[in-house]
Amino acid sequence: MLSIGSISLSSPLVLAPLAGYSDLPFRLLCRQFGAGLCVSEMISSHGLVYGQSKTISMLASCNEERPVSFQLFGADPAIMGEAAAILAPYEPDFIDINMGCPVKKVTKRGAGAALMTDIGLAEKIIRAVVDSSSCPVTLKIRSGPDSKTICAGDFTRMAQTNGVSAVCVHGRTWKQGFSGVADWAIVKETKASAEIPVLGNGDVQSNEQALTRMRQSGCDGVLIGRAAIGNPWVFSVEERPVSVDGVTAVVSRHLELIDYHIKEPNRCLGSIKNHLGKYFKGFPNSSKVRKEIFEQQDFISLRSFLQTIG
Ligand SMILES: Cc1cc2nc3c(=O)[nH]c(=O)nc-3n(C[C@H](O)[C@H](O)[C@H](O)COP(=O)(O)O)c2cc1C
Repeated sequence: MLSIGSISLSSPLVLAPLAGYSDLPFRLLCRQFGAGLCVSEMISSHGLVYGQSKTISMLASCNEERPVSFQLFGADPAIMGEAAAILAPYEPDFIDINMGCPVKKVTKRGAGAALMTDIGLAEKIIRAVVDSSSCPVTLKIRSGPDSKTICAGDFTRMAQTNGVSAVCVHGRTWKQGFSGVADWAIVKETKASAEIPVLGNGDVQSNEQALTRMRQSGCDGVLIGRAAIGNPWVFSVEERPVSVDGVTAVVSRHLELIDYHIKEPNRCLGSIKNHLGKYFKGFPNSSKVRKEIFEQQDFISLRSFLQTIG
């Protein structure tokens, strides 16, 4: 069983941080389906330090979701340390540091995957966060900046020297973005030279494939991202239902969790619709259902509409 720091996870399969998707309701749903841990969307260290209300609202959590992992991003060691200290009253079980995001908005400020070009700065950030946290700190990296500079192993060893409790390696380079395929040989090499748990990530489509990747690479756990969107079944041995009826029952559960945990769902209706639409991917008529989802004017009508499908 996978343990990180002193915390044992109920499953080695983890919901990857997914901006726009891994909010509290979806994390709870994935936990109900068997995910051992669900990482929050990336949270801006600057946003926390400057007390931006939208950033603070991303810290919503509850006991049923525990263990809770909040992911921070930023490029300034002092701000990252301050942000980690601000998280203390929220009692996270883990703080994850994002050194893997390739999105321009993040990398142009030197954060996310851009940190893989500067191991010295990455080390300062890690030290600042570890020193300011009272919970285990984890790190999410890519294989390297580009195919000529693979450095996941160096980053992992540097991280473990500085007190990081586990590392997740997404087997793509920064340059690859989301193109090409994840190279799991790099996950295997990184695991072989690390003392702390190493989790692999990239292109895992099913529960069975995740377990195969663990066996083949020797890694301690697997993060599943895109394959979980609209498909929390990926964390269970249960297959995604073949009928719209079966899917709709889970969509209703997702909506209940949104209703309970999100104060003003109409303010994020666009992202809720986007999320719900993904459940119907692959079914006959799915484009019609998605179109109808997008036509709903508010959360109440969205809920009523979804009750009519099946
Ligand atoms: C929509 C979307 C949002 C993402 N947001 C984050 C994020 O906030 N933090 C992060 O470290 N990675 C983020 N990622 C990367 C994923 O966590 C994961 O590393 C990547 O999708 C590869 O895994 P997969 O093939 O299982 O999707 C995001 C990916 C997608 C597609």
